[in-house]
Amino acid sequence: MQARTAAVGGDDFDQSARDAVYRAMFTRRDVRSHFVSDDLDDAVLARLLMAAHHAPSVGYMQPWNFIVIRDGERRRQVRDLFLAAREQELPAIEAERQALYRKLKLEGICESALNLCITCDRQRSKDSPLGRWHNPEMDLYSTVCAVQNFWLAARAEGVGVGWVSIIETEALKRLLAIPEHVTPIAYLCVGRVSEFAPRPDLEAHGWGKRLPLSELVMSETFCGAGEAALKSAITRLGSGERAKP
Ligand SMILES: Cc1cc2nc3c(=O)[nH]c(=O)nc-3n(C[C@H](O)[C@H](O)[C@H](O)COP(=O)(O)O)c2cc1C
Repeated sequence: MQARTAAVGGDDFDQSARDAVYRAMFTRRDVRSHFVSDDLDDAVLARLLMAAHHAPSVGYMQPWNFIVIRDGERRRQVRDLFLAAREQELPAIEAERQALYRKLKLEGICESALNLCITCDRQRSKDSPLGRWHNPEMDLYSTVCAVQNFWLAARAEGVGVGWVSIIETEALKRLLAIPEHVTPIAYLCVGRVSEFAPRPDLEAHGWGKRLPLSELVMSETFCGAGEAALKSAITRLGSGERAKP
């Protein structure tokens, strides 16, 4: 085995620090049903937003903004948008799954302590499109990285986050006065929760299963066979939730 080279410029993570990072990832949940009525301290929310703000971004563009939504009436209006969008989505779902779809709880807009809309300003640093000349959508991906940072930090703080995408974007933009050149990326329900479920809600309700990771790994080209040793190592880890570094 090769000796590990220490990284310059940083305290290395010890085992417990590594465990904590993986734990946040493996126990993070999309939360819709277990919000409690406690408020969320601004000090905690500030830390979560700071984590989001340290996400990577193309050309260091930092295209995000964070709209904090607390007002009950505005949230009811967002929930109405969700209910309308769900009805529109329903016919696209396979006929035999529609009854289950209707039963799923897919948002916690009014029950959570607050809502957060994370947006991407597509014109920020528009005159210097470093990394976006060929791939202009990279600003959207950068904003998704901010969402994930927020979500993982929230898990570590014991705060639940649920992403609601079943909303018509233009209607949401009107409701939140989001300008034309800004794209809402994530509408999140955020708050203290009574529990983090051990597995995804959609798995618990029989909607889907985690795909076997080793079947998703390819070698050299798309669908390229190979990487047998890596795939064995993955299989030895067992289910993702229990995998330890
Ligand atoms: C881009 C994105 C959009 C999502 N939209 C919704 C949604 O509208 N409603 C919902 O209940 N969950 C939504 N989810 C959560 C997924 O259903 C959830 O991540 C998945 O079932 C796995 O569960 P877990 O996040 O608890 O691991 C969304 C997740 C992502 C990443």
